[in-house]
Amino acid sequence: MTPQAKVEWRKLKALAKRPPDIRALFAQNPARAQQWALEGGGVFLDSSKSRADNATLSALHALARAAQIPEKIRAQTRGEKLNFTEKRPAWHSLLRAESPPPAVARELNRAMQFAENVRRGKTPAQNGKPFSHILHIGIGGSHLGPELLRDALAHNCESAPAIRFVANADPAALSAALRECRPEETLVVSVSKSFSTGETLENSRAAKSWLENALGADRASRHLAAVTANADAARAFGIAKERVFKISDWVGGRYSLWSAVSVSAVAAVGEKQFREFLRGGGEMDAHAAETPPEKNIPLRLALLGIWHCNFLGAQTHCVVAYQHRLRGLARYLQQLVMESNGKSARKTGGASRVDTGEILWGGEGSNDQHSYFQLLAQGTRMVPTDFILAQNPEDASHAEAHRRLLAHALGWSRALMTGRAFESAQAEALARGLNPRAAKKLAAHQECPGNRPSNAILIPQLNARALGALVSLYEHKTAMQSFIWGVNAFDQWGVESGKKLTGEILRALSESGGAAELDPSTRMLLEKIQGA
Ligand code: F6P
Repeated sequence: MTPQAKVEWRKLKALAKRPPDIRALFAQNPARAQQWALEGGGVFLDSSKSRADNATLSALHALARAAQIPEKIRAQTRGEKLNFTEKRPAWHSLLRAESPPPAVARELNRAMQFAENVRRGKTPAQNGKPFSHILHIGIGGSHLGPELLRDALAHNCESAPAIRFVANADPAALSAALRECRPEETLVVSVSKSFSTGETLENSRAAKSWLENALGADRASRHLAAVTANADAARAFGIAKERVFKISDWVGGRYSLWSAVSVSAVAAVGEKQFREFLRGGGEMDAHAAETPPEKNIPLRLALLGIWHCNFLGAQTHCVVAYQHRLRGLARYLQQLVMESNGKSARKTGGASRVDTGEILWGGEGSNDQHSYFQLLAQGTRMVPTDFILAQNPEDASHAEAHRRLLAHALGWSRALMTGRAFESAQAEALARGLNPRAAKKLAAHQECPGNRPSNAILIPQLNARALGALVSLYEHKTAMQSFIWGVNAFDQWGVESGKKLTGEILRALSESGGAAELDPSTRMLLEKIQGA
């Protein structure tokens, strides 16, 4: 953190000693809602239900200036090597630029063409029919993004191949998918940037055997494709050159859904929608890079997230999408946010002295109101929550049901802020005939503290362009927070070390005496598992 950023940080700590009550902020300023609303890049943001007043917002912007946020976002979209430990750019925005460099466009267009040919049956299965299923094998960013795209956009694409995603090392995942597929009509796409991830390689080997046992090696090879930055490894695995689609090493896994990684999703939703998705992402890029800080939506989300997390003690951040087709959004954002900012070393190498990374969780509205909303409303912790809403249904015949869905969302956003006063609960209990003592006791359990912050992020309706804007919005929010915390959002050394430990245990499980070097707890568990 620069010396100036430290000065701004101290000012914010002083402001945090007397955090405002959201309800009081509206009482003091009836125009607060309009003043704290922002629109651009394809979304509308209502950030007025935040526990921040104008003085706090100004101090947060001073912190952003000290962290040189606008300059850093422009440097990122210019392809500067912001991933300083791997000496690479974090240039996924190039994939959704209006005119990407020819080499980038060429590889993406190759993958799109293949996807369209599969979708239309121009690249048929070996039985001459269109592929009915695509088995997409990949994990992390090689899974979550394509699945999000398929869930959100494949709903009106009946004639397209069905996708079955397989990620887990648990063989039950692949078995479940294979039960729904027929080898003569299934295309297997192995997606792995490194082409060295254990789960993906094991599942790909098993799927390849499944094809070969049914079709023979030669015909099976025509049902195999791959997406990777390691083309040699894919070729060595037995995938024909013309069906290996490359991604660049400057596309991080959790930022790769804009690339050929999504080839199976494109076969399901169509190139037209995917191009609209890229367009929406690009429009949010322009908003993030060109909009003045005070009107910049990803920056507003980034700063309020830091305020609630680093200064008001929020331990987690919840995202609830009030759209069934966005049911996977929170899970997708978990990798984006926590694999990016779950870091503790600053750029200088020293340990961060402040908390970094938002612990993001959440899910689908209205379902989750019947799950964890009790804690949001009455728990001991304040959990800042993003409500993701579509203003309009995609199908006009759903207008009435959509209004009810929005009523749930806005009702809860309001309830978290207003809470329920003890006196109101007590009066209601008395009115129901409870005696004063009983009414007082019950009211203590019915009171909701309120003053719980939330953002409402509105898209016009859930379509490809709006989805692109949403994903790009959270990417920029995440990057901006990393610039303030001074961590590298674009590497993931922590999980790399986890992969090595898995290898150690595998060896210990397969070689006698292999556990000698391990800790007592792991040794005991291995002995238990091996039935010693
Ligand atoms: O979790 C670590 C990680 O490298 C992610 O960043 C990545 O999305 C995932 O594993 C899969 O990696 P690959 O695409 O190389 O198989």
